[in-house]
Amino acid sequence: MKIMVTGGAGFIGSNFIRYLLEKYDDVEIINYDKLTYAGNLNNLRDVEDNRRYNFVRGDICDNELVEKIIKKNEVEQLINFAAESHVDRSITGPEHFVKTDIFGTFTLLDACRKYNVKKYIQISTDEVYGSIEKGSFEETDPLNPSSPYSASKASADMIVNSYYITYGLPVKITRSTNNFGPYQYPEKLIPSFIINALMDKPLPLYGDGLNVRDWLYVEDNCEAIDVVMQKGKNGEVYNIGSGNEKTNIDITKLILKALSKKESLIHYVKDRPGHDRRYSLDVTKIKNLGWKPRHRFEDAMRKTIKWYANNRWWWESIEGK
Ligand SMILES: NC(=O)c1ccc[n+]([C@@H]2O[C@H](COP(=O)([O-])OP(=O)(O)OC[C@H]3O[C@@H](n4cnc5c(N)ncnc54)[C@H](O)[C@@H]3O)[C@@H](O)[C@H]2O)c1
Repeated sequence: MKIMVTGGAGFIGSNFIRYLLEKYDDVEIINYDKLTYAGNLNNLRDVEDNRRYNFVRGDICDNELVEKIIKKNEVEQLINFAAESHVDRSITGPEHFVKTDIFGTFTLLDACRKYNVKKYIQISTDEVYGSIEKGSFEETDPLNPSSPYSASKASADMIVNSYYITYGLPVKITRSTNNFGPYQYPEKLIPSFIINALMDKPLPLYGDGLNVRDWLYVEDNCEAIDVVMQKGKNGEVYNIGSGNEKTNIDITKLILKALSKKESLIHYVKDRPGHDRRYSLDVTKIKNLGWKPRHRFEDAMRKTIKWYANNRWWWESIEGK
């Protein structure tokens, strides 16, 4: 089975490639990634010599190269993780998000249509639904994104769906909650706070710290994506979440406690514009496919904190850290 993974040098994509290579003997992976600031081949250092793994540096907006790689490798399935993914950066520089997240997705879909790729999986996010005070969003709820990031991802979901309805392209969409785990770029909340705490630097917490996110361990997300690939229905969306709703201040205190650091490292900073208060997903649909998260939140957090503490080489090699 020839599988093209776009954005495979990023956080979730690299964990997913490792997961596929370990689980299936018959998969061959083509990791197609532009290597933006967030792409890092060190994320896959342990699999780079695997004969079933290949890397191609390329932009998902480059239709000629995308088509060439799909054709040459007779790609059967494509999973699109490639995106600009950091909300703060989407506020200061939205054009990259519109380009990669929307136009790049279109480029991939069109190439898949042209070369009859048998499965296209779009990795989307819970952020497309916007904020919810009470209850949880279902897959059929309207999209109401708040940031240029989530709006670009929502637009991409619409285009993906249109390729199913108009051309019958076999597409599926996953929308997961916030992931955490090894190899996450240190601008995101959990790795940045772990690293700052390890270095006794202040932990800059937005607003009152009471924004709520449902935290999903990245390995659980990889399993869920696999379940959707195998058992999901074409043209459908699947929410993925673990039900571990925590405020940012809860997460911050947990990290400090685990590393025996003082709470005086917490530094409250001005909230970001359009900061959604709470995300929450109803995950009945994917549970009906037989998936549930295997990791307890506290255990997965402990493992994650230990990983960053033991793998300084990884984050010290990233510029600015
Ligand atoms: N991290 C999360 O908590 C989370 C939650 C829900 C959904 N998602 C979605 O999952 C996907 C992966 O997220 P992540 O956290 O691993 O992101 P990431 O920022 O760590 O990785 C993104 C990868 O995409 C690559 N990339 C960016 N632009 C590209 C382009 N034009 N062409 C080719 N490659 C390009 C980067 O080099 C990088 O390797 C994204 O689509 C994101 O929207 C992430």
